[in-house]
Amino acid sequence: MRRARVIAIDPTSPDPAAVREVAACLRAGGLVALPTETVYGLAAHALDAQAVARIFAAKGRPATNPLIVHVADAAAAARLAASWPETAALLARRFWPGPLTLVVPRAPMVPDVVTAGGSTVALRVPGHPVALAVLREAGLPLAAPSANLSSAISPTTAQHVLAGLGDRLDRETDLVIDAGPSPGGIESTVIHLGVDPPRLLRPGLVTPAEIEAVIGPVARGAPIEGPAPSPGMMERHYAPRARLEVRTDAAARAKELSDGGARVGWIGFDAPPSSEVLAVILPRDAAAYAARLYGALHHLDDAGVDHVVVAAPPDSDEWLAVRDRLQRASAAPG
Ligand code: TXA
Ligand code: MG
Repeated sequence: MRRARVIAIDPTSPDPAAVREVAACLRAGGLVALPTETVYGLAAHALDAQAVARIFAAKGRPATNPLIVHVADAAAAARLAASWPETAALLARRFWPGPLTLVVPRAPMVPDVVTAGGSTVALRVPGHPVALAVLREAGLPLAAPSANLSSAISPTTAQHVLAGLGDRLDRETDLVIDAGPSPGGIESTVIHLGVDPPRLLRPGLVTPAEIEAVIGPVARGAPIEGPAPSPGMMERHYAPRARLEVRTDAAARAKELSDGGARVGWIGFDAPPSSEVLAVILPRDAAAYAARLYGALHHLDDAGVDHVVVAAPPDSDEWLAVRDRLQRASAAPG
C-alpha cells in the first residue's frame, strides 16, 4: 500500500520547478520526506504546530522526543536560539552545512511540540543539495526527524520511506522526494552546547575528536546529573525486526544458529561461514561502512531472517557511531 505521492529530484542539480512544488507543499502545512546527507527526514514547517503534530502522528513518535530543526544557514539557526554561544558559532563555521546538530537554548517562537516542551532546541544545516534548495526556496525552518516509524531503522532511500510510512502519508497534502540514497547513511552527531563542558548526546559522522579540535573537551555518555539525556539515547532504537547480535566470534555464532535451523543474516568484513547464511559484506572503512549499514539491515529484514549476526567492528573512535547504532539495534525489545 503506497499511498504517498512521490516526486523524483536529481540529487546534484535539483530542478527548480520541483523544488518550488515541495516548498509550496511545506508552506501549506504538508509533510515532505526529503533526502539529507545523513538519512531521509520527514519534514514540516517548524513554526506550524499543527503540521509538526502530524509528524508525530505519522511516525507514532512519543511526544516526549524532541525534533531537530533544519535551517538554511547559521544566521537562520541563531534566530531560533535564545542565545548563540561562541561554541555554536565556531562549530557552525567548521561543520555546516553538514551532519552536526547543535542543542542550544530555544527562542520563544519555537513551538513546544518541536522541543517536547523543553528549554532547548536542536538545530542543523543539512549538507544535501536537495534539502538546502528546499530550505532556501521555502524560507522556513523545517522540523524533521528521520522518516521512519518510531524505533524502526532510519531510511536511507525513498523506498525505505515508502515501506515504513507510505500508507501513513496523505496523497493530497504530503510528498516523498526520491533523490537516490543518502550518502552518509547514519544520523547526525548531536551535541548539547547549553552545558559546561558541552556534551555529546548522540555520536554520528562528525567524531568527538573533530569537535574537540574546534571547541576543546567534550563530555560523553549519559550524564550523572544535570539535564536528562537525549530521548534518542533511549535503549532500543534503530531496531530491525530480526534479533541482532554483535559478536567477536561471529563466524562460530552464525554457524551455530544456522545449524540449529534458524534463518541467519550476516553483516561482516569477510564471507560468512556457510552458504546458508544471507550475507552482506561491508567495507573496513568506518565512513563507508556507515553509509551502507542501514541499507544492509533493511535488506536482511526484508528477506525475513530470524537472526542477524554482526562481526564486531573495531574499538577505535572512528567506529563510535557505528558501534552505537549496532548496540541500539541489538538491545532487547521492550
Ligand atoms: O541526521 C539526522 O539528524 C536526521 C536528519 C533527518 O537530519 N534526523 C534525525 O532526527 O535523526 P531524529 O528525530 O530521528 O533524531 C533526533 C535526535 C533524537 O535523539 C532527539 O532526542 C534529539 O535529536 N534531540 C532533538 N532535540 C533535542 C533537544 N532539544 N535536546 C536534546 N536532544 C534533542
Ligand atoms: Mg530517528
